Amino acid sequence: MPKLIAKFKTRLGSLATHKDKETSAIPSGVDLSHLKVGLSALSGSAEIAGFTPLSKSAEIVKVIVEIIEKKAENAEDIKEFSQTTTHLLRILKRILPTVGGKQMNDELFQDIKVFQQDLEDIQKNLEKLAQRTTLKAFWHAEQDGKVLTGFKEKSDRFIASLNLQFGIETHNMVLAGGESRQSATITYENIKLATPTAPRVFTGRDKLVTEGVEMLCKKDQAHLAILGAGGMGKTSLALHVTSAKPGSSGKHLRSLVKANTKANPANLANFSTFLHYSLVRTRDLIKPQALICSHAPLATEPSGDILYVRRKFQKQRYFLPCEVLPDAPSLIQGLLQILKISISEGKDGYEILESYLQSYQDPILLVLDNFETPWYSSKHQKAVQNLIEKIHDQGKVSIIITMRGGKAVGDIEWDKLGGQSGLPPLALRAAREAFLSISPTTKESEELDVLLNELDCMPLAVILMAQLSKRLPLEVLIKNWAKSKTDMLRNENQDS
Ligand SMILES: Nc1ncnc2c1ncn2[C@@H]1O[C@H](COP(=O)(O)OP(=O)(O)OP(=O)(O)O)[C@@H](O)[C@H]1O
Ligand SMILES: [Mg+2]
Repeated sequence: MPKLIAKFKTRLGSLATHKDKETSAIPSGVDLSHLKVGLSALSGSAEIAGFTPLSKSAEIVKVIVEIIEKKAENAEDIKEFSQTTTHLLRILKRILPTVGGKQMNDELFQDIKVFQQDLEDIQKNLEKLAQRTTLKAFWHAEQDGKVLTGFKEKSDRFIASLNLQFGIETHNMVLAGGESRQSATITYENIKLATPTAPRVFTGRDKLVTEGVEMLCKKDQAHLAILGAGGMGKTSLALHVTSAKPGSSGKHLRSLVKANTKANPANLANFSTFLHYSLVRTRDLIKPQALICSHAPLATEPSGDILYVRRKFQKQRYFLPCEVLPDAPSLIQGLLQILKISISEGKDGYEILESYLQSYQDPILLVLDNFETPWYSSKHQKAVQNLIEKIHDQGKVSIIITMRGGKAVGDIEWDKLGGQSGLPPLALRAAREAFLSISPTTKESEELDVLLNELDCMPLAVILMAQLSKRLPLEVLIKNWAKSKTDMLRNENQDS
C-alpha cells in the first residue's frame, strides 16, 4: 500500500503547510495535490489487490502530474490537463470496486497493460523535455503541447476501451464526462448517469448530518459548503443530508434536544422549528406530554412523524454533478435539465432559468457537487461566479456546494459543514464500523485498528481497503502496506 497511506498521512497531517505550498506554486489553486493523493490511493490499493498494471498506471500518471505541476507557471496552463486527469482518475477508481474480489480478466488486464506502456512513453517524453528546456521554454514548447494532447488522446481511448469491460455504466459516464468537455450539450441522461446514490455504508457523520439538516431547515435560505480532500466523503455527506430518513441521525438529535432543554426549557421552542424538519420521530424524542404542551404543531402530524429536509423541500431537491459541467453555459443547461424546464424559442437558457427561479414560490434545494470542476476548469471563472451568485440571490433557493480544497466560491457567506479546514477524516470507531460493514468476515482486532490508523481513517481508503480484505487477509494487507511504505519512504528520501 505504498503511497496511499503515507501520502494521506502527510496530506492530512500537514494541511496548512500543504496549502501554503500549493498556493505559492499555483496561485489560483488548481488542485493537483488532491489528484496526486487520489492517484496514490488508487496505486496503493491496486498494488495490494495484485492489479499491478493498474497500480503502475496510476503511479505513472502521478509522476506526469508532478512534472506538469513543477513546470506550470500558472493555473491557466494546466486547466485542461487537470480536467483530463481528474476524469481519468474517476474512471480508474471504478475499476477496483467493479472487479471486486474477482480476478481481473485477461482483456481488462491487456487494456491496462497497453495503457501503462503508453503512459510510460509519455512520461519519458515529458522527462526529456523537462531536462532540456528552461522553465518557460518547457511550458511553451511545441513538443510539450503534443505530448499533452497525446496524453489526453491515450487517456480518452483507454476510457473508451473500458466500455467493453464494464458495459453501459462506465460507457455513459464516459460520455457524460467526455461530451461535456467537447460541447455544451448536456442531456438529462448525462446528468442522471453521473449522479451517485447515497452510500449504504455511512458511518460517523451523524452529528454533521444533523447540523446540515438543522441549517437547511432553520433558515429560509441556507448556503452550506462541504469542503475537503478528495475521497473524504463530501458527496456522501451531501447526499445523506438531503435524503436523510428518520433514524439515521436520531441518536444525536435526541441527545441534543435533551441537553438543550435541560439547560433552558425555553430552548424547546427554538427546537420546534428545527425538529419540524428534522430526522427523528417525535414519539422517540420527547415524552408525549411535553410534546403536547410545547409542540402542538408537531403533535398534529398525522403519522406522528416530524418533518425533515425531504418534507421541507419536497421534490424540489436537485443534485447537479458538476464534474460533467465545466463552465457556466453547461451549468445552466444542467440546471435546466434537472429542473425539467424546456427552452422556448427566442429565449436563452439563462433568461429562462432566471425567470423560473424568480417566479417559483416554494423552497428549492440545489446540491452543486464537485463544483471544483467548473470553478477551476472554466476559462471564464467570473461567469461561473456570477451564475452562482445570481442563484444565491433567489430568496427561495438553498444551496449545498461540495468542493475539493479549503475554499468555497464567490461572494457568498457559506456555512462550512465540517469545520473551517474542511471535512475531517472519520473517527476510528466509525472507520472500523464502515470497514466491518463491508467486510463482515473480518474480526475486530488491534491489527485492524493499526491499519485504519495508518489509513488516517479516510473514508475512500477505508472502503477500498475493506473491499480488498474480502480477498486478502488482514495480515497480508498490513504486511504489504508496511513494505510499500518503506519503499515509499526510501523513494521520498531519494527525491529529497
Ligand atoms: N461516512 C462514511 N462512511 C463510510 N464510507 C464513506 C463515508 N463517507 C464516504 N464514504 C465512502 O468513501 C468514498 C468516497 O466518498 P465521496 O465520493 O463522498 O468522497 P468525496 O469527498 O466526495 O470525493 P471527491 O472529492 O473525489 O468527489 C465512497 O466510496 C463513499 O461511499
Ligand atoms: Mg465528491
